[in-house]
Amino acid sequence: MQKAKLILDRDYQIGQVDPRIYGSFLEHLGRAIYTGIYEPGHPTADAEGFRQDTLKLVKQLGVPLVRWPGGNFVSGYRWEDGIGDPASRPRRPEMAWFSTESNQVGLHEFVSWAKKADTEVMMAVNLGTRGPDEARDLVEYCNLNTNTYFADLRRKNGAKDPFGIKLWCLGNEMDGPWQIGHKTAKEYARVAHEAGKLMKWIDPTIELVACGSSNLNMPTFGHWEDTVLEECYDTIDYVSMHQYYSNASGDTPEFLARSLHMDQFIKGVVAICDAAQARKHSKKQINISFDEWNVWYHSNGHDQAYYDSRVWHEAPPLLEDIYTFEDALLVGSMLITLLKHADRVKVACLAQLVNVIAPIMTRPGGGAWCNTIYWPYMHASLYGRGTALQPLVQSPTFATKEYDAVPMLDSVAILNPDGGVTIFAVNRDEKEDLALNLDLRAFPNLKPKEHLLLHHDDMHAINTEENPDNVVPVTMPLRGDEAEIRLPARSWNVIRLG
Ligand code: AHR
Repeated sequence: MQKAKLILDRDYQIGQVDPRIYGSFLEHLGRAIYTGIYEPGHPTADAEGFRQDTLKLVKQLGVPLVRWPGGNFVSGYRWEDGIGDPASRPRRPEMAWFSTESNQVGLHEFVSWAKKADTEVMMAVNLGTRGPDEARDLVEYCNLNTNTYFADLRRKNGAKDPFGIKLWCLGNEMDGPWQIGHKTAKEYARVAHEAGKLMKWIDPTIELVACGSSNLNMPTFGHWEDTVLEECYDTIDYVSMHQYYSNASGDTPEFLARSLHMDQFIKGVVAICDAAQARKHSKKQINISFDEWNVWYHSNGHDQAYYDSRVWHEAPPLLEDIYTFEDALLVGSMLITLLKHADRVKVACLAQLVNVIAPIMTRPGGGAWCNTIYWPYMHASLYGRGTALQPLVQSPTFATKEYDAVPMLDSVAILNPDGGVTIFAVNRDEKEDLALNLDLRAFPNLKPKEHLLLHHDDMHAINTEENPDNVVPVTMPLRGDEAEIRLPARSWNVIRLG
């Protein structure tokens, strides 16, 4: 068995964890909304048509924030299509995902669902086919209590009080040629600044997220962020980051090392934000909204055939990745990476929440169950609140094609509000267990009180509706005075000290 060591000190702090890093995302894509969260006639549907089985699994995650309505979808969306009498709402060909949008779930319905799910809405505005005018109208509709056209219209549509939406995305992935209304950096920067300016004139209490690069491999990476920051610095609060990983090549060690790539990406964008701050001699710091992150690749082949067929189905099954145990390990490491940057990553959204590259799956008319990635996400959201501590890790390493030294142990610790400490740890090694030595020098009274373990002998193990408990966490026995804790080869661990 290999050995690793984690030294914890109360004074080695990264920063306060913003609970919004445990956010998620629901796009009008595939079956995320329709037959995911909303399915009138389903045996568990409430009077508004919301599935209670899905809602229960969402609530168990403690999701603080859900980004809506897209994603690529938002770049062609007319928000006015989703208000007023549902029977008179238009059905539209939706070009981001070549589907038909019925608009049966719109603004009021989604805000109502979010309330039921105990979560906040992170709203995205369309800067693809639309611009500052529609964006400021939407802020008025959602947030003003004035006697003016759009605030009156909201009241007429049944919402006396404003929705009070605080966090807004200025478009989505506008650097990507796949985006409806794709823009150059300069074109986007101008429209984002003008839209943001008007939105904040309507409601100065809102916060704004500008599009960064859609991933680190975009040819415009760096130049894009520089241009956007140059133009929008005073208007925005966050730059967005998106990143998905794939193991299409079947190289597990390389796949599990992808969180190092994510770490480099965050460091790069933080450096670009800070360079812009220095250039501008500004006191204001721009932080990161990592508002799309996940593993995504299992469904690609199936989905391409659907797009090519141009059949415009309503709520077709798209991006329905069935996640393996291996995927859950990388998701765990990605969560650890976000926590290691708790000082600058203030918002993050696991993309997405239901059916579409999601921790929760549903069957139309049938059950709801958890994909493997549900578990590390739930653990981090429940136990990862407080102050992130700088991990001093001593660990054996292994080499991959891209990295010379990948630590077997990926770990971070959180000082929780109750004075306890939670350690999240992935043993990335495929074969060797790790004996983790905890050096608790600054916490003489803390003892291990719970060890949650997610492990499976088969890296490709999945959960299904028939077998939903194939990959689930178990509680490991503890004496309470352990100086070493065993982390099995390829495992996600939550060690709670109290
Ligand atoms: O989350 C799925 C899609 O991935 C989003 O719509 C888009 O923003 C990204 O490319």
